[in-house]
Amino acid sequence: MKITKAIIPAAGLGTRVLPASKSVPKEMLNIVDKPAIQYLVEECARSGITDILIITNRGKGIIEDHFDYAFELEENLKKNPAKKDLYDAVHSVADLANIYYIRQKETKGLGHAILAAEAFVGDEPFAILYGDDIILNAPGEKPVLRQLIDAFEETGKCACGVKECTTEQVMKYCTLDVTPLSGNVYDVHKIVEKPREEEILSHFSILGRNVVTPDVFDLIRTTKPCGRTGEIYFSEALSTLAEQGKLVAVDFIGKRYDMGDKLGIMQANVEGALMHPEIGEAFRAYLKELAGDL
Ligand code: UTP
Repeated sequence: MKITKAIIPAAGLGTRVLPASKSVPKEMLNIVDKPAIQYLVEECARSGITDILIITNRGKGIIEDHFDYAFELEENLKKNPAKKDLYDAVHSVADLANIYYIRQKETKGLGHAILAAEAFVGDEPFAILYGDDIILNAPGEKPVLRQLIDAFEETGKCACGVKECTTEQVMKYCTLDVTPLSGNVYDVHKIVEKPREEEILSHFSILGRNVVTPDVFDLIRTTKPCGRTGEIYFSEALSTLAEQGKLVAVDFIGKRYDMGDKLGIMQANVEGALMHPEIGEAFRAYLKELAGDL
């Protein structure tokens, strides 16, 4: 079955990037001249996704405004032929995909947020993109989500995107027990969320992308809330899929930035600015000058 639906959970509190995320959702923090979540929607569109459900909560209404037409602004830009490119850039955002919204009424973790997508998903396999994980591909590379959809179609198993991480990152994210399947695709046997150092099974961690079937909803429903925080982790459902032999990991091609973390935001902006067609050259010269002073 063709995968045409994706969900983007974007209802977290973003406490690691406060106070920036107090009134601006962290998913709307910019990378040079576009909010982070626009990169996700563009990745979906380039991967064959036509329908996206964004899971929000109170105070995240500006996400809806961003993916809508902005009549007054667009009429103004339209009058000035010199601003045609800007008009196109603003107007086309609303046409990237059919976008739907639902609120997660309580912030009870990623697993709980994903449950809110059950009616939207129906009985089709679907993609999940974490709202603060931006993965950029060089021109000519397949978008990461397309890499995962291809693995899903080739193996008939659910797929998660992974990268080798530092020990410190693995302890913050999760660790996977894997064996090679073919190329950059691995069979996954077990996942441990936020492992202690002695529990690390490999340095592969899941970074922000999954393609799954709707049976994950029943698995999430049987997941016990985490004792310390009461959150429902999504990795528990993925771990059950792994134990059932239904999950592969794709060591994806692409550079990932954590927009939920101050350093990640700065890395995304510095590297994004260096690659930017309009300011790339000037920014490189500025960095060289700055490096001389450091
Ligand atoms: P994170 O754990 O990185 O987001 O979740 P957070 O809770 O906002 O992070 P802190 O507060 O800085 O530690 C990954 C993704 O899942 C979403 C977040 O918005 C983020 O995009 N999420 C998380 C939800 O939608 N609902 C939740 O209850 C938790």
